[in-house]
Amino acid sequence: MTDVQKGLEKVIALETKISYIDGERGLLEYRGININELVKLTFLEVSHLLIFGHLPNNDELEDFFNQMHDNRDIDDEVLNLLKICNFNIEGMDALRTIISYLSHCDQDLNDNSMTANIRKATKLIAKFPTIVAAFHRISELEDVIHPDPSLSHGANFLYMLKGFRPKDIEARIMETDFIISAEHELNASTFSARVTASTTSDIYSAIISGLGTLKGRLHGGARLAVMEMLDEIPSPDEAEKYTLDLISKKQRIMGFGHRVYKTHDPRGLIFKKLAIQIAKENKDMTWYDTAQKIENTVFQEIVEKKNKPIYPNVDFYAGVMYKYLEIPPLLATSVFAIGRIAGWLAHCIEQYGDNRLIRPRARYIGEHEIHLRK
Ligand code: ACO
Repeated sequence: MTDVQKGLEKVIALETKISYIDGERGLLEYRGININELVKLTFLEVSHLLIFGHLPNNDELEDFFNQMHDNRDIDDEVLNLLKICNFNIEGMDALRTIISYLSHCDQDLNDNSMTANIRKATKLIAKFPTIVAAFHRISELEDVIHPDPSLSHGANFLYMLKGFRPKDIEARIMETDFIISAEHELNASTFSARVTASTTSDIYSAIISGLGTLKGRLHGGARLAVMEMLDEIPSPDEAEKYTLDLISKKQRIMGFGHRVYKTHDPRGLIFKKLAIQIAKENKDMTWYDTAQKIENTVFQEIVEKKNKPIYPNVDFYAGVMYKYLEIPPLLATSVFAIGRIAGWLAHCIEQYGDNRLIRPRARYIGEHEIHLRK
C-alpha cells in the first residue's frame, strides 16, 4: 500500500477536462478559459460551457435560456414543503430537503443516460435560486415572488429574494459570484458528488452529497462564518485587535487559506474589486475597511512573520459582498450552491461518461486477533 496522504492532499484521484488550477501561480480556468475572461459572460453561458464542454452558439443559448425559463418556477407542493421547514436552519438544509423531494417527482430519476442527466441538470440549475429565495420569503412571512424571464440568473435571484429589481451593479455582482463559484476542480463537495455518481446512484443523490459537503465551515460554510465575523467586529478600528486575538489563540481566520493556492486565490482578487465597487456605490466603506484591516493583519502576522501562504480565499470577499447585497447570513452557503451546482453537474456527467467506482483504501491501525470470551 502507498503512504497515507491525510486529507488526500496532493493525491490525483482522476482526470478531468472541466477545470484547471495552478495553485502556485494563482490561476483558474474552466475548460481552458481563464476566469478573468469568463466573468465577461453570463452564468448561463458559463453553465453551458461547463456542462456541454463548449460555449453555446446563438441557437444553443436561446434553447438553454428557454429551458431555464420553463423550469425556474416551483410548484405548490414544494412551497408547502418549504412552509414546514424549521426557519432557524440554513438555506442549505432547506435546499437539501427540497432536492430530495424533487427526485421523488422525476420519472427519469434512475436514468443515468446523458440525455436524461442533461434534462435534470437544466432543471436543477433553474430551480436552485427559486428554492433559496422562496425559503427566505416564506420564513419572513412574505409573498413568494415568481421568476422574471427578462432578468439574468443573478438579477432574477435578487429580485425573487427581495421583491424588487436590483441595481445594475448588484445584478452584475450576483452574476459574477455565480460564475466564479461555479467550478473548482476536485474540491471536497465536487469529490463527494463524484463519489456518489461513481456508484451509479442518481444525479439528485450526487447533488445532495455535494450540498451536505459544501455546508461545512472549512468549505463553502466559510462564507457564513465570514459574515458572522464581520458582524462581531464593531468597527474597522477594532478589526486589527480582533484578528490579533484570533491569531494569538491559534484560531483560524475564516475566509483565509486554501489547500491548493499557495498565493492569492484569483477568485478572491476578483471579489475584492467588486467589494470595493459596491462599497463606494453604497457610500459605506465599513465592511470593506473592516475586511481590509483583517487582510492586512493576517498578511503581516501570518504571511510575513510566519511565512505561511494564508491569503483571502473565494469566501472572504464574497462574505463582504453579501453584506453589501444584504444577503441574509443563513442563506450565504446556499447562494454559493446556486453557482456551484453547475460544476457539480458537469463533474457528475463526466463521471457517468467514463465511470469507475471511486473506492480508496484505509490503512488499518487498530488491533488484530482479539477473541471473544466464551
Ligand atoms: N487561519 C490561520 N491559519 C491557517 C488558516 C487560517 N484560515 N488556514 C490554514 N492555516 C494554517 C494552519 O494552522 C496550518 O499551520 P501549521 O502548519 O503551523 O499547523 C497551516 O496553515 C496549514 O493548514 P492546514 O489545515 O494543514 O491546511 P489545509 O489545506 O488542510 O486547509 C483550509 C485548508 C481548510 C481551507 C484552511 O485553510 C482553513 O481552515 N481555512 C479557513 C476556512 C475557510 O476559509 N474555508 C474555505 C476554503 S475555500 C472553499 O472551500 C470554498
